[in-house]
Amino acid sequence: MDDGGRDRFMTLLGIYDLHRAPIERLGDAVRLQHSPAVAARKQECEEQWLAELEALQLPADIDVSDPLDAMRALAARDRLPRIYKWLAREASWEQVVHFLALEGGPDADFDDLVAACQVGLGGAAKMELATNYWDEMGNGDPAAVHTVLHERLVEAVGLPTIPLAEQPTSALARAAFCGLLATNRWLQPEMLGALGLIELQAGPRCRLVLHALERCGAPPDAMPFYEVHADVDPRHGKDWLEKAIAPTIERLPEWGPRIVRGALWRSAVNAEFLADVSDLLIAPKPGRSAAA
Ligand SMILES: [Fe+2]
Ligand SMILES: [Fe+2]
Repeated sequence: MDDGGRDRFMTLLGIYDLHRAPIERLGDAVRLQHSPAVAARKQECEEQWLAELEALQLPADIDVSDPLDAMRALAARDRLPRIYKWLAREASWEQVVHFLALEGGPDADFDDLVAACQVGLGGAAKMELATNYWDEMGNGDPAAVHTVLHERLVEAVGLPTIPLAEQPTSALARAAFCGLLATNRWLQPEMLGALGLIELQAGPRCRLVLHALERCGAPPDAMPFYEVHADVDPRHGKDWLEKAIAPTIERLPEWGPRIVRGALWRSAVNAEFLADVSDLLIAPKPGRSAAA
């Protein structure tokens, strides 16, 4: 992606912070959230990005006429990218830590995303998103809230914060993507699809991160965050499809293709990030090219 893309994502991340970051971090700037100049810049950046996302094509063998099957097929396509297998089998401790710092967890921010996604939904879909949200909240146990578990992981392994300026453009796009969905009401179907895909893919990936942590002898406090996601996300993914997406499509059939394209967008944005992180972290084997 060119430098223009990088500027665009940096700009959007700043604007999305006005909508979504903790207020105490923003100070008086939070009052700019809906200023005409900020809104105009946001829309300009998003229009370019949306044109790129809308140009993405579903793989030819995925049939959008059955959105649930299409979601399952999309999730299965790259369920276990190369970098997760490499982490599980051969990455050094430093490389594992570097990866975790860039990845930020399978579902960073997921509680707020689920909360934003449920606005205006009803019935079974709203109930399923509430159930998912409550799991994020540790089912009422403050020590089991997912962000608290992530903080424990950060402390246990001394996870560094990597400044945006030092992250690849694809990492900025991946971080901004949730802001795009969460600050545009009209993209609610796409958001439902994107969050569903995250859930469908997180379980097996977290299991491989756990292997990496165990193999490297990580401290015990590093484990619960990935353990809980390896355990519950397969159920979250299944329930998101069957209890949130299915009843929504029954009520609003025109949402079906849009839910699937949201999953496709997330899949593409995340795949680009993982490919860049692979290039960054995985040294080529002697005699083999880095792209092998
Ligand atoms: Fe979570
Ligand atoms: Fe989940």
